[in-house]
Formats: sequence, structure tokens, C-alpha cells
Amino acid sequence: MARLGRLGWGRTAFKATLAFCTIMALAFLSPLGSASPRGFSIEDPPVLVSPVQTARQNAIAAAFQHAWNGYSKYCFGHDTLHPVSNTCEDDFGGYGATAIDSLPTAIMFGNEEVAVQILNFIAALDFKVVKGGSRIQVFEVTIRHFAAMISAWDLLHGPFSHMVTNPDLRHALYVQMTTLGDALSCAFDTPSGVPRDWVDPALCQTDKATQNTIAGAGTMILEFARLSDITGNQTYAHLAQTAEEYLLKPQPATGEPYPGLLGSFISVETGQILGSKGSWGAFADSFYEYLIKAYLYNSDLYQSYLERWLIAADSTIRSIGSHPYGHPEWTLLSSWDGGNLQNSMESLSWFAGGNFILGGMVTSNQTLVDYGLSIADAAGAIYESTKTGLGGEFVTWSTTCEASENNPCDPNEAIRLTDGRFRLRPEVLETWYYAYRATKDPKYQDWSWAAFESINRYCRTDSGFSSLTDVNADEGGSKGDVQESFVFAEVMKYVYLTHLEDAPYHVQDSRGSTKNTWVYNTEAHPLRVAGPPR
Ligand SMILES: *[C@@H]1O[C@H](CO)[C@@H](O)[C@H](O)[C@H]1NC(C)=O
Ligand SMILES: *[C@@H]1O[C@H](CO)[C@@H](O)[C@H](O)[C@H]1NC(C)=O
Repeated sequence: MARLGRLGWGRTAFKATLAFCTIMALAFLSPLGSASPRGFSIEDPPVLVSPVQTARQNAIAAAFQHAWNGYSKYCFGHDTLHPVSNTCEDDFGGYGATAIDSLPTAIMFGNEEVAVQILNFIAALDFKVVKGGSRIQVFEVTIRHFAAMISAWDLLHGPFSHMVTNPDLRHALYVQMTTLGDALSCAFDTPSGVPRDWVDPALCQTDKATQNTIAGAGTMILEFARLSDITGNQTYAHLAQTAEEYLLKPQPATGEPYPGLLGSFISVETGQILGSKGSWGAFADSFYEYLIKAYLYNSDLYQSYLERWLIAADSTIRSIGSHPYGHPEWTLLSSWDGGNLQNSMESLSWFAGGNFILGGMVTSNQTLVDYGLSIADAAGAIYESTKTGLGGEFVTWSTTCEASENNPCDPNEAIRLTDGRFRLRPEVLETWYYAYRATKDPKYQDWSWAAFESINRYCRTDSGFSSLTDVNADEGGSKGDVQESFVFAEVMKYVYLTHLEDAPYHVQDSRGSTKNTWVYNTEAHPLRVAGPPR
């Protein structure tokens, strides 16, 4: 880790080397006329983009187009295509989840044709009409559809202002994201102000559930604050902040078994935390993720969120993270139940590596960056160890080993895959994106690319990309016929961004000269920050 750490940070020696490289690069580049049009300065050294990176970007954009063509052909307007049977499903209310979730990716890949197709679709949507029932799931629609629309608005009014210049389409996007924001706002009409997870958008009514997850309550702040800042209507931000207050000052004490780390459920009646069982995975994950990201979004307003994130991160290092025996350089995150820990980690939790790296870069804390890298490296080791080169859904591990005749304590067997399904989840690719930004170590690009090639090889169908039943079986076992919209929103985007050196919407990198002017929501939709960039 120390090796990577030294490479990764704007220390004096590193800066001096960069300055020298800048001069050399200028000398080489200028005659070719391929220098950045922005002009160079010592603070912002150029990065040489290799033909390999360009070829990889093109291959990813082609994979996106392939999956888009399949979805368009068989299921356009439906939520999800099953890419083996070519059947359609409306599992998110029938707003065309895959189409809307793909919009920022299409824009960032420069795919104007697809972007226009999606914007026309959005313009014609009626959010009051829900397919297969009368309610929508607030968490999923917020992070996928709602965030995608806001992100597209930010991208089209920023770095991609040259795309989709039709004012009617742009206006329709604005109207529709506000309409959807109003419908989602209905979720907060509860005794405590903690949202419920299901809303009937036609009647502006919630269901009657007594509890929500802390992810459900704590993953609204970025999207709602952004909509407030774009529209000037502060109601959205206030709703999300009110809910978040219960998570920033959790009650009762048993709901916070480790400082900053909570039980995963919250009462919508009282705002109390229910139980003391939690993890960085399902039901909780993006609550922790958004603490640091809310601060990035508006560092004046959300200072207290940063403080809580630092407490949670510190507790995780002290109490939750653990190292499989023989590998002190890898970190895996246990789940907790009160004070009891279980050495079990699900694929969703792997985002935490990137989250630690981001928080470490933002606060200039190398300990946190290195910790995140040790999670990124554990993921790399797991992916490299399977037959398909892909990770599964669950791992368990041992931290110690009593050697015996049957148990030679092989460090290669310290981590065990207990659920080998590959659900095309993006969290590991996300963590490698942050790891690459922080270190510029090409190994993270190579891991990301290797995973992408495995996806192309084992998951590809005639119409898209399918989940697999077993990453450790020949050919990945069989195809599970599931392709969630995050394949378009996250998988493609994170691999692409990991192979793109310079872009205004990147998170900061190791050079430390740029601040974060964009922040990625939990579905990889970039939002432009509103407060002083950090
Ligand atoms: C602001 O947003 C809230 C929440 O959706 C909505 O009820 C209210 O009408 C909006 N106010 C204005 C002036 O648009
Ligand atoms: C960096 O983070 C670690 C882990 O939370 C903490 O122990 C340390 O004090 C932090 N360093 C600084 C300089 O804040």
C-alpha cells in the first residue's frame, strides 16, 4: 500500500517529477499539434493518452451500443430486457428504467442519437401512469430515473452543451425531472419526515409501512439538494435534510453499535434506528456513501455530514475491516450485529473501497486512501482467482488458521466464494475507478479492462449482457437472463471513465491540483456540485 500511496499523492518530489515531465511532454507534443487545447501549466500537467486507452474506450462504447440496440429492438419503453429470452419486464413501474438510466452514459459517450431518442421518450412520459400496480419504489426511482435526468440536465448545460440543442427537448427534461421530483416528495409525508419506500404518484400517497432502510432515508440528499439548486425551490432539499437529521444524530444508543455505524432500519413513525444489525452492504450502503458525497456537493452546508462520515470510516478501520490470513495487504468488510462480527461480505459492499479513497483524497488523508486501496486490491485478487475472471455475490474468509493435516493454512484459500452468481454488479469496477484516479497505477485499468473482457466473453448475448450463475464454472455456468439498468448506467460508465484521463466531470486525481466539481450519485450519475469544490 505504501508503494501506491507514495505514487498517489501530490508530494513535493512527485510534483517536481511531474513538472519535469510536463516540459518534456510539451517538447514532444507541440510539433505534433496534439496538445490539449486548454494549454498547459505546471499545476495541470498533460496526460499522454495511449492508443490502447482509446481502443478500449471505443470497445466500451461499442458494447453500450450493442446492448442499447437489443433493448431498443425488443423492449424499448419497458424497464428491463431479459437478454437471453428477449422478453421484457416492468419492474420499476414501467417508466422505461433502462432507457432513462442510460441517458447520462449516452451523453458522456458522445452518442447523441441515443441521447435524443431517450429525451424524446422522457418528454412523452406520464409519471402518473404506473404499470403493474399503482406505486413506485422511491429509492430505486430516485437513484436511477430521477438522478439520471438531473445528471443529463447538468451535463447538457455544462461539458456537453453542444449536444442536443433542441430547446423543446431540454425544456421537457426540466419539466419532467421536476414533475418526478414532486411525485417522489410525496414519500416524506410521514409522522417523522423519514420517507416511506413506496409512493402512488397519481394520488401522492405513501404505503403504510412502519419502517424504511437507512439507505432509503439517507440516499435522497444529493438528488433532492441538486433539484432544489437547479429549480430554486428549496423544499426538496429540506425534505431530504429533515430525514437525514435522524441518521446524523441516531437514537437510541443501541442503534449505533460502533461510532458512526448504525443498524440498517429506521422507524418512519419516530425516526428511531431499529436494531443494531448492519453492514456496508444492502439496506445501508449508500447512506454511508452519501455522507461524504453530500459534503462534496455543498461543503458549506453539509460539513456535519463529513464529520459523521469520518467517524464511520474510523470505526470501520478500528472495528469492522479485517484481513484474510496470509494477506495483511487486503481488507474485507465484516457485517455487524451489535458487537458481534461476521466475516461475510456481499458484492454491494465493494463500493466502500472507492468511497474510502474519495473521502481520503478530499480530506488529504493518506491512511483513508490506502485503506480503500486495500479493499480494491482484495477485489482484484478475488476476480483474478476465478475461472471467468469475475467476482461472485458473497465471500467469507478466515483471519486465522490452526494448521492441521487437513488444513495446510494455504493463504490462497483464506477467502471463499459462498455465492458464485455474477449479477453484473458495478461496485468493484467503481472502486477500481477511484483507485486509478488516486494512484494512476495501470493495474487498476488492467483489472477493469479484464473484467470488461470477461463480461464480453461470458455474458454477451445477441441482445445485450446477461447475469451468470457461477463465476467458477466453465463459461460462468449458465446465463441468468437478467440485465439490470445499472449495466448501462454504471458498468459501462465506470470502465470507460477508468480509461479516460482528462474530463471536467472526473473526480479529482492524484495530482491534487483539481478539486471535485462533480459528484457521482450511487448509480454513477454525475451531478455538478453547488458549493465550494473540495
Ligand atoms: C416546491 O416543491 C414542493 C415539493 O414538491 C412543491 O410542493 C411546491 O409546490 C414547490 N413550490 C413551487 C413554488 O413550485
Ligand atoms: C486519517 O484517518 C485516520 C483513520 O480515521 C485517523 O486515525 C487519522 O487521525 C487521520 N489523519 C489525519 C491527519 O486527520
